[in-house]
Parts: sequence; structure tokens; C-alpha cells
Amino acid sequence: MKEKELLCNAPIGVFDSGVGGLTVAREIMRQLPNERIVYFGDTARVPYGNKSKETVTRFSRQIVRFLQMQDVKAIVVACNTASAYALDELEQEVDIPIIGVVKPGAKTAIEATHNGKIGVIATQATIGSGIYKRYIEENDMSVSVVEKACPLFVPLVEEGLWEDPVTDEIARRYLSELIDIDIDTLILGCTHYPLIRSTVGKIMGDKVTLVNPAYETARELKELLEKEDLESDKRPELGTELYRFFVSDAAEKFQKFANSIIPYGILSAKTINIEEF
Ligand code: DGL
Repeated sequence: MKEKELLCNAPIGVFDSGVGGLTVAREIMRQLPNERIVYFGDTARVPYGNKSKETVTRFSRQIVRFLQMQDVKAIVVACNTASAYALDELEQEVDIPIIGVVKPGAKTAIEATHNGKIGVIATQATIGSGIYKRYIEENDMSVSVVEKACPLFVPLVEEGLWEDPVTDEIARRYLSELIDIDIDTLILGCTHYPLIRSTVGKIMGDKVTLVNPAYETARELKELLEKEDLESDKRPELGTELYRFFVSDAAEKFQKFANSIIPYGILSAKTINIEEF
């Protein structure tokens, strides 16, 4: 009994290349308030979106090893790029439940579209992998998918330029070709993008539903924990470390950032050398 309790009280590991995965962590905190979280942001090596599959897979493996050393009971790959490039391998390699963000995002978009035209914006890597298009078309042949890589969005978000004329101008250029083709649903296929949701929404107009995969990811995590009988049934007591944050560089900057995204006081973020894992 004690062992089972220990396991259920273990944290969920969540990772991303930087701050983007906080949009997923925030949703997990909202939907699963009893769960502890260990978050890792690979701030020394962000962005992932312009790197090769081999490199992103190597980085993801190191992070998974680090998270497993924190005794996590499940892992959420809160990064579309890592989900696209590394999730299949990671699933084979780890013996705890692990989920990504792409399938939940694709599923939500299929449910949301009325005219069968879905747009996807994401990193070059995610778009190049074709994973969203493949997954959506495999699940609903009547839907057509148009994809657009937006490589400058991640650095703009990491620099905190969420509402800025520069971001506005770049978003207009990227999104103009999606406006012309009458999509009614747009997947924010990078976990950094919900932070510039208002800019994207303003340009796309109210007829386009913006899909943030975080909501469905947290819902699927909940279902998975229930199925595996792994949910924590009580909220940890005050004073215990409910959420812990680790980064590979610039912890202070990350901490400030996290505090502006997460509606709970972040205790602190700690820098670790991820290359050691
Ligand atoms: N936020 C990540 C994603 O969802 C990665 C962005 C990047 O590092 O390029 O793809």
C-alpha cells in the first residue's frame, strides 16, 4: 500500500526546448490540481525547430533520463518538435507512460473543423516531418491540411515580444497565405505559440478557431493516469514542493518568464548540466 501511495504521489515530468512547454504545464496544473510536476526547459539549446531529428532525439533522451532520475511516474513531451521527431523512439525505450502533444492537437482540430480545411503552424522540423498532416488525413480522409513553418516565432516568444509591432509584422507575412485559402481551424502546432495567440487570432479573424493542443493533452494525461491507476488523489500539503523547475541555462530569466505565465508562485528554477545525462 505504501509503495502504491509513493508511486501515485510521484511527479509528472514535463519538458520542452524552453518556455513553450509552460503552456502545457499550466493546463496540467489546471486540470490535474493534485499532481506534482517536474518541468525541464532546455534553455541552453533552444530552438529545437531548426535542428535535425538525430539531435532532437539525443536531447530528448538526455532529458528523459534526467526526469527519470527525479522519479517521475509519467512524462509529457510538451514540445511538438520533440513529439514529431523523438516520441516513437522514446515510447520504445521507457517503461513509464509517455505522451506528446501532436496527436491531442490533431484530434481537437478534426473535431473543431466544419469546412474540412485545417491549417497548421509550427516549427520547420514539425512541418518538415509532416506529422500533423499525416495524422489528420489518416483519421479523417475528408479533411485537407495546409501547413506553414513559422521559424521566427520561437525566438520572438523567448525574447518576450508577445505583443509587439515586430511580431505583428512577421505574423502577417507568415499567415497571409493561410488567410487566402479559407481554413476554419488553425492548430498552434508549437507550444510557444499560445503565448502569441492574440496576435495570431487578430490576423486570422474570428471565423478561424485556434487550437491549442495543451487542453487535450492534459485531458489525455488525466485519462492515462486513471487507466494506469496512477493518479494522485490528494493535493500535496502546503509547503511541499508541488512544482519544480529545471533549465539548462539562464535560470533567472526563465523564472521571471514562468512567473508571468503560471498563475501560482514559482519557487525557483535551477540550472543543471543536461549534457551529463
Ligand atoms: N516549443 C517547441 C515546439 O512545440 C519547440 C520550439 C523550438 O524550440 O523550436 O515545437
